[in-house]
Amino acid sequence: MQSFKDSVTLITGASAGIGAALAREMAKQGATLVLIARRKDRLTALKDELTRTHFQLTSTFYSVDITKADQVDQMIDDIIRRFYRIDVLINNAAFGIDSLFGDTPMQAERDIFETNVFSALHLMKRVLPVMEKQGAGKIMNIGSVVGHRAMPVMSSYCATKAALRSYTEAIRVEYAKKGVQIMYASPGHTRTEFLQNQKRFGAAHRKGVGVSPMPAEICAKRLVCSLRKNKRDTVLTSIGKLGLLLNRFAPSLLDRILLSRV
Ligand SMILES: NC(=O)c1ccc[n+]([C@@H]2O[C@H](COP(=O)([O-])OP(=O)(O)OC[C@H]3O[C@@H](n4cnc5c(N)ncnc54)[C@H](OP(=O)(O)O)[C@@H]3O)[C@@H](O)[C@H]2O)c1
Repeated sequence: MQSFKDSVTLITGASAGIGAALAREMAKQGATLVLIARRKDRLTALKDELTRTHFQLTSTFYSVDITKADQVDQMIDDIIRRFYRIDVLINNAAFGIDSLFGDTPMQAERDIFETNVFSALHLMKRVLPVMEKQGAGKIMNIGSVVGHRAMPVMSSYCATKAALRSYTEAIRVEYAKKGVQIMYASPGHTRTEFLQNQKRFGAAHRKGVGVSPMPAEICAKRLVCSLRKNKRDTVLTSIGKLGLLLNRFAPSLLDRILLSRV
């Protein structure tokens, strides 16, 4: 798929941050957009903005909680009825938990896996048969640099991103001969509402990374470029790349550096 023109593109978590920026970027590419999130007012505003700025754009939105299987099933059935195909799925919706492991209630561990991992799996289980039948399609699972190397005071979030990465690696190979490309993407610190939206438990919280965040628009531009090129994994931000290099060649040094964050 060289161009995204008219490609039916589903983006979860499109009401804010990286998801909204991805929607703006895919609109520039001429994609047919299906915006998915819970906040209807945000989705309406984004759809209106995109319709104003892109004269020939086809877009729709679904105000859906992706952890609710029945809502997701109904939505996918409706999308197929309306558009007959699904070309691109970007599993982007997620949230973080900013807490020490010992302070994080078990229910919160379950909830974050439900949103960040199981919802993405459910969507892939519904969308992959459609793509397989078409003999074409692309899925990008938005992970994180911390899905490669976990950080203290965010163990649950890191574990969800590592799990998503692991699923992506295996499924990518299973579907490679079926014309379906499955990618993982690893943004680093990006300017969005993510930090405000994190759940917090206990008294200890994460210290700032001390670098300025990447604008969501730049993040989205690079992710769309990777989507076009079928890049297996895109690691974004210089600090993210540096951290992964350090983890590869001097993991115990990175452990010592991270001690200052606990
Ligand atoms: N920002 C960063 O520094 C950073 C770094 C690395 C990776 N990432 C990853 O990038 C992705 C986007 O994050 P962001 O920074 O843009 O965060 P954000 O601004 O908090 O946006 C999160 C999005 O997910 C949606 N969402 C959350 N739970 C949902 C649910 N149950 N059902 C439907 N939608 C749901 C939210 O929409 P509603 O509330 O309207 O439902 C919102 O649109 C995430 O996968 C995140 O892990 C972010």
